[in-house]
Amino acid sequence: MTEEGLQEQKQSEKAEVLTYFNGTGFERWNRIYSNSDDVNKVQRNIRIGHQKTVDDVLSWIKEAGGISQQSFCDAGCGVGSLSLPLLSLGAASVAASDISDAMVAETKRRAELDGLDLTRMTFKTSDLESLNGLFHTVICLDVFIHYPQKAAEEMVRHLCNLTEKRLIVSFAPYTPFLALLKIIGQFFPGPSKTTRAYILREKGIVNAAFECGFRVKQRKLNQAPFYFSQLVEFEKIK
Ligand SMILES: C[S@@+](CC[C@H](N)C(=O)[O-])C[C@H]1O[C@@H](n2cnc3c(N)ncnc32)[C@H](O)[C@@H]1O
Repeated sequence: MTEEGLQEQKQSEKAEVLTYFNGTGFERWNRIYSNSDDVNKVQRNIRIGHQKTVDDVLSWIKEAGGISQQSFCDAGCGVGSLSLPLLSLGAASVAASDISDAMVAETKRRAELDGLDLTRMTFKTSDLESLNGLFHTVICLDVFIHYPQKAAEEMVRHLCNLTEKRLIVSFAPYTPFLALLKIIGQFFPGPSKTTRAYILREKGIVNAAFECGFRVKQRKLNQAPFYFSQLVEFEKIK
């Protein structure tokens, strides 16, 4: 495909993602990322897998210490599953952003409901590409599923530029098993399959961060049926 064609595809997929996460996708993921019983078996498993990812991030951050002096950027925050506990743990500041207005509004609603100190939190409707600023720690969980390999690597480089010390990302990893599942899925598209999903090669993600002066500190694969997420923490070395 030509560069122009690629750009067009990128824009049209982003428009689909935006529509989805402000509509049916918001309803669906808001339920998954909650205690609601109104979820099916697949969604319940995704909830369990995702919670493992969030818990790992929080435990890495707690282990490293110094949270009350650190600023956090939660890029693609969804309904605040990570932003809210980070604030509760005493983060100096949390910048929560998402491409979807509905997601950002729900994050704010949940923060208010929990009685959190909103003076330490900002809420912004923004895609990852438009984010700017400098944060001690930048975190982007389960958002790269919407980015093909090259675009995800470009995004890692962009997020590195916003990061002073620590970058944490998670993505669906390329494995022969997942690649096969994806091929099978293409032959049997279900009604809930409304955005394209990409699985990514970890090597490309690691290399992109390395080019920006970051190295892998720790990594963990979280799995539950229908949930696969490779979590990687990078630390800045230069
Ligand atoms: C599966 S949810 C994960 C939410 C959150 N990171 C978490 O782990 O709880 C994916 C989120 O990514 C957001 N998203 C998708 N594409 C995005 C983009 N280009 N820029 C910012 N957010 C995006 C969606 O709106 C959605 O809230």
